[in-house]
Amino acid sequence: MKKPVLVVSSDLTQSAEERVEREYDVRRKPGGELFTCEELLAISEGAAAILITPFNRLDAGFFGHVSPSVKVIATTSVGIDHIDMKAAAERRIAIGYTPAEVTDATADIAMLLLLGASRRAFEAQELVRSGEWTLARAGGLLGWQMTGKTLGIFGMGRIGQAVARRARAFGMKIHYSNPRPLPEATASDAVFHADPTELLKASQFLSLHAPETAATYHFLNAQTIALLPQDAVVVNTARGGLIKDDDLIEALRTGRVAAAGLDVFEGEPKLNPAYICLRNIFLLPHIGSATLESRTNMAMTALDNIDAVLNGRAAPSLARL
Ligand code: DGY
Repeated sequence: MKKPVLVVSSDLTQSAEERVEREYDVRRKPGGELFTCEELLAISEGAAAILITPFNRLDAGFFGHVSPSVKVIATTSVGIDHIDMKAAAERRIAIGYTPAEVTDATADIAMLLLLGASRRAFEAQELVRSGEWTLARAGGLLGWQMTGKTLGIFGMGRIGQAVARRARAFGMKIHYSNPRPLPEATASDAVFHADPTELLKASQFLSLHAPETAATYHFLNAQTIALLPQDAVVVNTARGGLIKDDDLIEALRTGRVAAAGLDVFEGEPKLNPAYICLRNIFLLPHIGSATLESRTNMAMTALDNIDAVLNGRAAPSLARL
């Protein structure tokens, strides 16, 4: 039987690779490089489905030109900010995503950033690797302890809640802001702030977990940074667009913000070069979901979404407008 044509925009874990090779007529760019929009349009001619990552931006222009053969596009991400959902709906292309599969891996990375930033992991690593470590100098690398501090969580969905569970075990007090308060049993002792600016005032540590939308774009900027307690630590595993880079960089330079940990950047994989020059920052290359388990589950759910749509069954997780 003829297999459906699937365009795959990135490399996959081994079991997912085996599945796509078994079940689909696969098209991809050799070398695992990112498609340009034009390349993705050209290779999708006659394809039934496309498997993408958040690094493929599908705007209205893309949906205006994509082949009518394409019935479903599945992204291996919880975020769907890279997809023009209205344009996809107008073309009646189903969009699959992976909201449940990234939770624990991303929450772990948020903890790594909280620790890495507050315990000055970059400077500490550099000291050891440069061979310049002396006992006296190592004694000087004083950080900011998480125990007993308030962690503000902006965006209390699955990942925010998973971070809260972890942070409680570190002895942190949890405050959060979300469009709606959590049910009491889920919120437990977490303090809800309907107004995110009130959350900022309480956040000695701040972790961003909201999706990037018009409403959250540049949520953290000079005005909102000014609300944070002195010596706050800021981490972001959500989307780079939540932070106005120049304003955070200035706050890190002056010490208004003690330290930051970032896994995501506006315009990534390029990032504001000023970040690289700062020492009080712990930087990662968008590895929130990068575990073998998480990436395998993400790809499998993405393929389940594609299979279901192509076979007229209910898909496990389709994103809605
Ligand atoms: C997500 O799930 O949106 C992550 O950013 C993917 O790595």
